[in-house]
Amino acid sequence: MCEDSSRSIENLLATGSISGRRRRIAAMVHRFVDHPLSTIPSGNPLYLRKTVHRHPATFAHVSARSSWRRAEYLHPTALVIHITGRYLGNKPLVPAFSARASLPALHRYQPQTTLAREEQIGMSLTDLTPTELEFEPDKYASGANPPEVQAKVPCPVVDGLRIPRDRYVDKDHYEAERKVWLHSWQMAARVEEIPEAGDYTEYEIVGNSVLIIRQTDGSIKALHNACRHRATELAKGCGRLPGGQLVCPFHGWRWNLDGSSSYVFADAAFDARTLAKSELALRECLVEVWAGMVFINFDRNARPLHEELSPAKEILDEAGVGNLRVKWWKQVVLDANWKIAMEAFLEGYHVMQTHPQLILSGTEEEALRQTYGTEYTAFRGGHGRFHSPRGERASDWDYEDFIESNRLLAQGQDAMALDREVQIFEGMRNKAQGTTAEKVAAAIGALFEYAAGAGIPMTPPTPKINWGGEIFVFPNFFIFPMFANALSYRVRPHLDDPEKCIFDVWSLMTYPVGQEPERAELRGAFDKDDTENWGLIPRQDFSNIERQQRGLKSMSYEGHRLSPTVESTITNMHEEIDRVIAAHS
Ligand code: FES
Ligand SMILES: [Fe+2]
Repeated sequence: MCEDSSRSIENLLATGSISGRRRRIAAMVHRFVDHPLSTIPSGNPLYLRKTVHRHPATFAHVSARSSWRRAEYLHPTALVIHITGRYLGNKPLVPAFSARASLPALHRYQPQTTLAREEQIGMSLTDLTPTELEFEPDKYASGANPPEVQAKVPCPVVDGLRIPRDRYVDKDHYEAERKVWLHSWQMAARVEEIPEAGDYTEYEIVGNSVLIIRQTDGSIKALHNACRHRATELAKGCGRLPGGQLVCPFHGWRWNLDGSSSYVFADAAFDARTLAKSELALRECLVEVWAGMVFINFDRNARPLHEELSPAKEILDEAGVGNLRVKWWKQVVLDANWKIAMEAFLEGYHVMQTHPQLILSGTEEEALRQTYGTEYTAFRGGHGRFHSPRGERASDWDYEDFIESNRLLAQGQDAMALDREVQIFEGMRNKAQGTTAEKVAAAIGALFEYAAGAGIPMTPPTPKINWGGEIFVFPNFFIFPMFANALSYRVRPHLDDPEKCIFDVWSLMTYPVGQEPERAELRGAFDKDDTENWGLIPRQDFSNIERQQRGLKSMSYEGHRLSPTVESTITNMHEEIDRVIAAHS
């Protein structure tokens, strides 16, 4: 797989052995890299790590068709190029950009070598590159998986820009994906579902039912829901365990809240060998509580939650998600593979066509601005995010548009923005002065004032956090933070059907301290077209998911073709799935 130095970029350029587009890309890459590629030891079993931060429009500007895939082809040992900027097509919205290049592979061999540099190319450099754009070896690990990983996956991702259709329908692949569920931390419940000792709620995933139980000391345990006698499920749904006991409905064996055995009916009828306490104790999963959520892991050797969820966890902590409580929680069952349902929320690229009402001016220019103005980040561990870090707006965007965009969220999904925000923003209509940006700033200031007066803890935006956008927590959990509210999704396979999934939706909000609702309960599972229970925005999203799954059945269809920018977090999720499968095969 490796190249010797005779195929370094210098040599490729010097010998004239490449031409056309490949030569232009090679020249660009070479210009950005201030380290002789020929020093990379040959024989490296390394592979490309793709660009962590790619601004789509900037990529279009810097090199008409350059992409990390082609860079890989030129020199497969390793290459990362970070380029940021603000462009609309070839037109600079901000007259500056910065460029970085790193060779992560070299960090492994020559850790002291400085590899990155900035280079001014025709325009002035600014401080557009925040700290998070700096390349840090091993912080990010997305990229094409090596052959040894691909070999262990029934339908592997070989090219991150193409996702084979069999990954969504093939039974063997679906079976292999069980490893993802059995070895990943997953959001199993909200803490508000089980506020009191003895409260339980059931979480089900790939045939494993787990009871999440509040203990008498306030802690939480996750116990496998299978009687140790003859397997009967001990409890279903949610509720409170009478007398603090789990009682099997078949022959009446009992357990304490912590899973220890407390009673075996007619125990003298059994051989003592089969009634050892250690045999009778209900099996436990790892549990960690974070930000009002209960995460479980079936793998008792899993790394701690905060390590596995970083950096998504830190971003969400900064956004104040720990203050959120459930306003409502609903489900829909969709006739689609769980990944198809998830992919619809890993990108905002679909907004122009699926949610045209969210393009306020309705113009293509504004749709493009929103699309190119969104930054996608693929994190290590399959996590990801998208957001609009600078929030540039069309020049004719005014304060009424700001109100309208919030009203659309409040009316269209009853989440992220709620009526209370809309009312405050409307109240500022005649009070806020200045430019649109100044008025919006004043309106958000009024929101903080209201929150402070009402006792609502509210986290201010920071350089890392800008409200809006999405954080994806691998393998299946999303939060869309906005002001002191959020929308949250979780997607799971439905029983053993690769073409069905359970989709949970939470509207989360920050309540005044002391006025938080006591208990969160599922309102129910509703049809995807139910206008009583789903707002316009989720109905628009749901409508495409099942159509996609049906389209996958077409004999003409071989797989998705993805953008390396606006759909990069989809690639990242798929490649992480393959890494997890391979790691546990
Ligand atoms: S199956 Fe549970 S007590 Fe017999
Ligand atoms: Fe959508």
